[in-house]
Amino acid sequence: MDRYAVVGHPIGHSRSPEIHAMFARATGQAMTYERLGPDPEGFEEAVLRFREEGGKGLNVTLPFKERAFALARSCSSRAGAVGAANTLDFRAEGIFADNTDGAGLIRDLTRNLDFSLAGQDVLLVGAGGAARGVLPALLDGSVSRIVVANRTPARALALLQYLGREGGLPQEILHRCVGCGFDALPPGPYALVINATSGSLEGEIPALPEGVYGEAMLVYDMVYGKEPTPFLKKAQALGARRTADGLGMLVEQAAESFYLWRQVYPDTGSVLQQLRSRLE
Ligand SMILES: NC(=O)c1ccc[n+]([C@@H]2O[C@H](COP(=O)([O-])OP(=O)(O)OC[C@H]3O[C@@H](n4cnc5c(N)ncnc54)[C@H](OP(=O)(O)O)[C@@H]3O)[C@@H](O)[C@H]2O)c1
Repeated sequence: MDRYAVVGHPIGHSRSPEIHAMFARATGQAMTYERLGPDPEGFEEAVLRFREEGGKGLNVTLPFKERAFALARSCSSRAGAVGAANTLDFRAEGIFADNTDGAGLIRDLTRNLDFSLAGQDVLLVGAGGAARGVLPALLDGSVSRIVVANRTPARALALLQYLGREGGLPQEILHRCVGCGFDALPPGPYALVINATSGSLEGEIPALPEGVYGEAMLVYDMVYGKEPTPFLKKAQALGARRTADGLGMLVEQAAESFYLWRQVYPDTGSVLQQLRSRLE
Protein backbone atom coordinates (compact mmCIF):
# COMPACT_ATOMS: atom_id res chain seq x y z
CA MET A 1 0.00 0.00 0.00
CA ASP A 2 1.39 3.42 -0.94
CA ARG A 3 0.85 6.07 1.75
CA TYR A 4 -0.41 9.61 1.21
CA ALA A 5 -1.79 12.23 3.59
CA VAL A 6 -3.04 15.78 3.93
CA VAL A 7 -1.14 18.06 6.29
CA GLY A 8 -2.56 21.24 7.85
CA HIS A 9 -3.37 22.94 11.14
CA PRO A 10 -6.15 22.46 12.08
CA ILE A 11 -6.82 19.35 9.97
CA GLY A 12 -9.83 17.58 11.51
CA HIS A 13 -12.30 19.20 9.08
CA SER A 14 -10.47 18.11 5.90
CA ARG A 15 -12.55 16.11 3.38
CA SER A 16 -9.43 15.09 1.42
CA PRO A 17 -9.14 11.57 2.96
CA GLU A 18 -12.73 10.84 1.91
CA ILE A 19 -12.18 12.17 -1.61
CA HIS A 20 -8.93 10.28 -2.20
CA ALA A 21 -10.41 7.06 -0.78
CA MET A 22 -13.23 7.35 -3.34
CA PHE A 23 -10.73 8.04 -6.16
CA ALA A 24 -8.56 5.07 -5.09
CA ARG A 25 -11.54 2.70 -4.93
CA ALA A 26 -12.87 3.78 -8.31
CA THR A 27 -9.50 3.48 -10.07
CA GLY A 28 -8.24 0.37 -8.22
CA GLN A 29 -5.17 2.08 -6.72
CA ALA A 30 -3.53 0.37 -3.72
CA MET A 31 -3.04 3.37 -1.46
CA THR A 32 -3.94 4.79 1.94
CA TYR A 33 -4.58 8.45 2.72
CA GLU A 34 -4.47 9.92 6.23
CA ARG A 35 -4.48 13.26 8.08
CA LEU A 36 -1.39 14.89 9.63
CA GLY A 37 -1.92 17.81 11.99
CA PRO A 38 1.48 18.84 13.34
CA ASP A 39 1.95 21.89 15.54
CA PRO A 40 2.86 24.82 13.28
CA GLU A 41 6.52 24.80 14.33
CA GLY A 42 6.80 21.07 13.55
CA PHE A 43 5.64 21.19 9.92
CA GLU A 44 8.97 20.50 8.17
CA GLU A 45 9.87 17.70 10.58
CA ALA A 46 6.46 16.06 10.10
CA VAL A 47 6.83 16.12 6.30
CA LEU A 48 10.33 14.68 6.35
CA ARG A 49 9.35 11.99 8.87
CA PHE A 50 6.36 10.95 6.73
CA ARG A 51 8.71 10.66 3.75
CA GLU A 52 11.30 8.64 5.70
CA GLU A 53 8.56 6.27 6.83
CA GLY A 54 7.81 5.51 3.19
CA GLY A 55 5.13 8.14 2.42
CA LYS A 56 4.77 8.86 -1.29
CA GLY A 57 3.20 12.33 -1.25
CA LEU A 58 1.20 14.95 0.61
CA ASN A 59 -1.55 17.44 0.11
CA VAL A 60 -0.90 20.66 2.00
CA THR A 61 -3.44 23.09 3.38
CA LEU A 62 -3.54 26.18 5.63
CA PRO A 63 -1.19 27.49 6.95
CA PHE A 64 1.66 25.53 5.36
CA LYS A 65 1.48 26.05 1.58
CA GLU A 66 4.41 28.49 1.37
CA ARG A 67 6.58 26.39 3.68
CA ALA A 68 5.77 23.28 1.64
CA PHE A 69 6.95 25.09 -1.48
CA ALA A 70 10.18 26.09 0.28
CA LEU A 71 10.89 22.45 1.23
CA ALA A 72 10.82 21.20 -2.36
CA ARG A 73 13.84 20.71 -4.60
CA SER A 74 11.88 21.23 -7.82
CA CYS A 75 8.41 22.46 -8.76
CA SER A 76 5.84 22.80 -11.52
CA SER A 77 5.54 26.17 -13.26
CA ARG A 78 2.11 26.67 -11.67
CA ALA A 79 3.58 26.25 -8.16
CA GLY A 80 6.57 28.43 -9.06
CA ALA A 81 4.28 31.22 -10.28
CA VAL A 82 2.57 31.51 -6.90
CA GLY A 83 5.36 30.39 -4.52
CA ALA A 84 3.01 28.01 -2.72
CA ALA A 85 2.30 24.26 -2.94
CA ASN A 86 -0.81 22.26 -2.12
CA THR A 87 0.76 19.01 -3.37
CA LEU A 88 4.13 17.38 -2.69
CA ASP A 89 5.37 14.35 -4.62
CA PHE A 90 8.22 12.43 -2.99
CA ARG A 91 10.52 11.43 -5.83
CA ALA A 92 13.86 9.61 -5.79
CA GLU A 93 15.63 12.85 -6.81
CA GLY A 94 13.90 14.96 -4.12
CA ILE A 95 10.59 16.58 -3.21
CA PHE A 96 8.55 17.98 -6.12
CA ALA A 97 6.02 20.76 -5.42
CA ASP A 98 2.84 21.43 -7.38
CA ASN A 99 -0.16 23.70 -6.91
CA THR A 100 -3.43 22.31 -8.25
CA ASP A 101 -5.82 24.91 -6.77
CA GLY A 102 -5.95 27.04 -9.93
CA ALA A 103 -6.50 24.07 -12.26
CA GLY A 104 -9.16 22.76 -9.85
CA LEU A 105 -11.08 26.03 -9.97
CA ILE A 106 -10.83 26.25 -13.77
CA ARG A 107 -12.05 22.66 -14.21
CA ASP A 108 -14.97 23.28 -11.87
CA LEU A 109 -15.95 26.48 -13.69
CA THR A 110 -15.53 25.21 -17.22
CA ARG A 111 -16.50 21.52 -16.98
CA ASN A 112 -18.86 21.18 -14.02
CA LEU A 113 -20.51 24.60 -14.33
CA ASP A 114 -20.12 25.03 -18.08
CA PHE A 115 -18.90 28.61 -17.67
CA SER A 116 -16.70 29.97 -20.46
CA LEU A 117 -13.99 32.33 -19.16
CA ALA A 118 -12.70 33.66 -22.46
CA GLY A 119 -13.19 37.40 -22.86
CA GLN A 120 -14.97 37.81 -19.51
CA ASP A 121 -14.41 40.39 -16.77
CA VAL A 122 -13.80 38.72 -13.42
CA LEU A 123 -14.01 40.10 -9.90
CA LEU A 124 -11.77 38.10 -7.53
CA VAL A 125 -12.53 39.03 -3.92
CA GLY A 126 -9.68 38.39 -1.47
CA ALA A 127 -5.90 38.48 -1.70
CA GLY A 128 -4.81 35.62 0.58
CA GLY A 129 -3.36 32.26 -0.36
CA ALA A 130 -6.46 31.06 -2.20
CA ALA A 131 -6.61 34.13 -4.46
CA ARG A 132 -2.88 33.88 -5.10
CA GLY A 133 -3.21 30.20 -6.01
CA VAL A 134 -5.87 30.72 -8.67
CA LEU A 135 -4.94 34.04 -10.26
CA PRO A 136 -2.40 32.76 -12.84
CA ALA A 137 -4.81 30.00 -13.94
CA LEU A 138 -7.64 32.52 -14.40
CA LEU A 139 -5.32 34.69 -16.50
CA ASP A 140 -4.40 31.62 -18.58
CA GLY A 141 -8.12 31.13 -19.17
CA SER A 142 -8.04 34.19 -21.48
CA VAL A 143 -10.19 36.39 -19.27
CA SER A 144 -10.38 39.97 -20.46
CA ARG A 145 -9.80 41.67 -17.08
CA ILE A 146 -9.42 40.60 -13.45
CA VAL A 147 -10.09 42.98 -10.60
CA VAL A 148 -8.62 41.75 -7.31
CA ALA A 149 -10.52 43.49 -4.51
CA ASN A 150 -9.49 43.01 -0.90
CA ARG A 151 -10.53 44.37 2.51
CA THR A 152 -6.90 45.45 2.92
CA PRO A 153 -6.21 47.06 -0.48
CA ALA A 154 -2.41 47.04 -0.03
CA ARG A 155 -2.51 43.23 0.02
CA ALA A 156 -4.25 43.14 -3.37
CA LEU A 157 -1.59 45.40 -4.84
CA ALA A 158 1.20 43.37 -3.21
CA LEU A 159 -0.24 40.17 -4.70
CA LEU A 160 -0.08 41.57 -8.23
CA GLN A 161 3.46 42.85 -7.64
CA TYR A 162 4.49 39.42 -6.34
CA LEU A 163 3.13 37.64 -9.40
CA GLY A 164 5.08 40.00 -11.65
CA ARG A 165 8.39 40.00 -9.74
CA GLU A 166 8.68 36.55 -8.14
CA GLY A 167 6.08 34.67 -10.16
CA GLY A 168 7.45 35.81 -13.52
CA LEU A 169 4.04 36.66 -15.04
CA PRO A 170 4.70 38.86 -18.08
CA GLN A 171 3.70 42.53 -17.85
CA GLU A 172 1.30 42.24 -20.80
CA ILE A 173 -0.67 39.65 -18.81
CA LEU A 174 -0.49 41.61 -15.56
CA HIS A 175 -1.85 44.64 -17.40
CA ARG A 176 -5.19 42.82 -17.44
CA CYS A 177 -5.28 42.96 -13.59
CA VAL A 178 -6.27 45.74 -11.21
CA GLY A 179 -5.87 45.63 -7.41
CA CYS A 180 -8.10 47.73 -5.13
CA GLY A 181 -10.24 47.96 -1.99
CA PHE A 182 -14.01 47.34 -1.95
CA ASP A 183 -14.82 51.06 -2.14
CA ALA A 184 -12.64 51.70 -5.20
CA LEU A 185 -14.01 48.98 -7.48
CA PRO A 186 -13.81 49.92 -11.20
CA PRO A 187 -17.27 49.92 -12.83
CA GLY A 188 -18.59 46.47 -13.91
CA PRO A 189 -20.36 44.48 -15.01
CA TYR A 190 -18.34 41.44 -13.89
CA ALA A 191 -19.55 38.24 -15.52
CA LEU A 192 -17.96 36.16 -12.77
CA VAL A 193 -17.60 37.13 -9.10
CA ILE A 194 -15.41 34.79 -7.02
CA ASN A 195 -15.26 35.01 -3.24
CA ALA A 196 -11.77 33.86 -2.21
CA THR A 197 -12.01 35.29 1.31
CA SER A 198 -12.47 33.21 4.42
CA GLY A 199 -15.35 35.49 5.50
CA SER A 200 -18.08 32.90 4.85
CA LEU A 201 -16.54 30.65 7.51
CA GLU A 202 -17.45 33.27 10.13
CA GLY A 203 -20.67 34.40 8.45
CA GLU A 204 -19.02 37.63 7.24
CA ILE A 205 -19.66 39.02 3.79
CA PRO A 206 -17.18 41.29 2.00
CA ALA A 207 -18.60 44.82 1.68
CA LEU A 208 -18.94 44.90 -2.12
CA PRO A 209 -21.21 47.36 -3.94
CA GLU A 210 -24.58 45.55 -4.06
CA GLY A 211 -25.00 46.01 -7.82
CA VAL A 212 -22.21 43.52 -8.66
CA TYR A 213 -24.32 40.48 -7.78
CA GLY A 214 -27.29 41.16 -10.06
CA GLU A 215 -24.99 41.95 -13.00
CA ALA A 216 -23.01 38.70 -12.70
CA MET A 217 -23.66 35.56 -14.76
CA LEU A 218 -22.12 33.42 -12.01
CA VAL A 219 -21.28 34.16 -8.36
CA TYR A 220 -18.87 31.61 -6.84
CA ASP A 221 -17.72 31.09 -3.25
CA MET A 222 -14.61 28.96 -2.62
CA VAL A 223 -16.08 28.04 0.75
CA TYR A 224 -18.72 25.26 0.65
CA GLY A 225 -21.29 23.79 2.97
CA LYS A 226 -24.60 22.02 3.37
CA GLU A 227 -26.48 25.28 2.88
CA PRO A 228 -25.54 28.09 0.48
CA THR A 229 -22.83 30.17 2.18
CA PRO A 230 -23.75 33.62 3.57
CA PHE A 231 -22.04 35.19 0.54
CA LEU A 232 -24.10 33.10 -1.89
CA LYS A 233 -27.32 33.78 0.02
CA LYS A 234 -26.67 37.50 -0.28
CA ALA A 235 -25.88 37.15 -3.99
CA GLN A 236 -29.13 35.22 -4.54
CA ALA A 237 -31.12 37.84 -2.62
CA LEU A 238 -29.59 40.58 -4.79
CA GLY A 239 -30.47 38.89 -8.08
CA ALA A 240 -27.46 36.73 -9.02
CA ARG A 241 -28.44 34.50 -11.96
CA ARG A 242 -26.37 31.50 -10.85
CA THR A 243 -24.40 30.68 -7.73
CA ALA A 244 -21.98 27.85 -6.87
CA ASP A 245 -19.88 26.91 -3.87
CA GLY A 246 -16.31 25.56 -3.78
CA LEU A 247 -17.03 21.84 -3.32
CA GLY A 248 -16.39 21.20 -7.02
CA MET A 249 -13.05 23.04 -6.81
CA LEU A 250 -12.10 20.90 -3.82
CA VAL A 251 -12.79 17.68 -5.72
CA GLU A 252 -11.10 18.90 -8.92
CA GLN A 253 -7.91 20.09 -7.21
CA ALA A 254 -7.76 16.69 -5.46
CA ALA A 255 -8.13 14.91 -8.83
CA GLU A 256 -5.18 16.89 -10.22
CA SER A 257 -3.05 15.83 -7.22
CA PHE A 258 -4.19 12.22 -7.60
CA TYR A 259 -3.19 12.29 -11.26
CA LEU A 260 0.26 13.69 -10.42
CA TRP A 261 0.85 10.85 -7.96
CA ARG A 262 -0.83 7.92 -9.71
CA GLN A 263 -0.94 8.93 -13.44
CA VAL A 264 -4.64 7.97 -13.47
CA TYR A 265 -7.36 10.61 -13.79
CA PRO A 266 -10.35 9.76 -11.59
CA ASP A 267 -13.95 10.43 -12.55
CA THR A 268 -14.77 13.51 -10.49
CA GLY A 269 -18.49 13.83 -11.32
CA SER A 270 -19.60 10.83 -9.27
CA VAL A 271 -17.32 11.75 -6.34
CA LEU A 272 -18.70 15.29 -6.31
CA GLN A 273 -22.25 13.92 -6.28
CA GLN A 274 -21.52 11.54 -3.41
CA LEU A 275 -19.75 14.21 -1.39
CA ARG A 276 -22.62 16.64 -1.93
CA SER A 277 -25.14 14.07 -0.75
CA ARG A 278 -23.02 13.39 2.37
CA LEU A 279 -23.11 17.11 3.23
CA GLU A 280 -26.89 17.09 3.12
N1 LIG B 1 -12.72 25.02 -2.37
C1 LIG B 1 -11.40 24.86 -2.34
O1 LIG B 1 -10.85 23.93 -2.92
C2 LIG B 1 -10.55 25.89 -1.64
C3 LIG B 1 -9.17 25.93 -1.89
C4 LIG B 1 -8.40 26.90 -1.22
C5 LIG B 1 -9.02 27.75 -0.31
N2 LIG B 1 -10.35 27.66 -0.07
C6 LIG B 1 -11.02 28.56 0.89
O2 LIG B 1 -10.72 29.91 0.56
C7 LIG B 1 -10.77 30.72 1.75
C8 LIG B 1 -9.58 31.67 1.78
O3 LIG B 1 -8.39 30.92 2.01
P1 LIG B 1 -6.96 31.62 2.04
O4 LIG B 1 -5.96 30.52 2.03
O5 LIG B 1 -6.83 32.68 1.00
O6 LIG B 1 -6.96 32.36 3.48
P2 LIG B 1 -6.01 33.55 3.93
O7 LIG B 1 -4.68 33.47 3.24
O8 LIG B 1 -6.06 33.56 5.41
O9 LIG B 1 -6.72 34.89 3.36
C9 LIG B 1 -7.97 35.29 3.86
C10 LIG B 1 -8.58 36.35 2.93
O10 LIG B 1 -9.91 36.59 3.39
C11 LIG B 1 -10.06 38.00 3.66
N3 LIG B 1 -11.04 38.14 4.75
C12 LIG B 1 -11.11 37.44 5.90
N4 LIG B 1 -12.18 37.83 6.61
C13 LIG B 1 -12.81 38.80 5.88
C14 LIG B 1 -13.96 39.60 6.10
N5 LIG B 1 -14.69 39.47 7.21
N6 LIG B 1 -14.32 40.49 5.14
C15 LIG B 1 -13.58 40.61 4.02
N7 LIG B 1 -12.46 39.90 3.76
C16 LIG B 1 -12.08 38.99 4.69
C17 LIG B 1 -8.67 38.48 3.99
O11 LIG B 1 -8.62 39.89 3.81
P3 LIG B 1 -7.44 40.78 4.51
O12 LIG B 1 -6.25 40.65 3.62
O13 LIG B 1 -8.00 42.15 4.53
O14 LIG B 1 -7.23 40.19 5.88
C18 LIG B 1 -7.87 37.68 2.94
O15 LIG B 1 -7.98 38.27 1.67
C19 LIG B 1 -10.77 29.74 2.93
O16 LIG B 1 -12.05 29.78 3.50
C20 LIG B 1 -10.48 28.39 2.31
O17 LIG B 1 -11.18 27.35 2.99
C21 LIG B 1 -11.14 26.74 -0.71
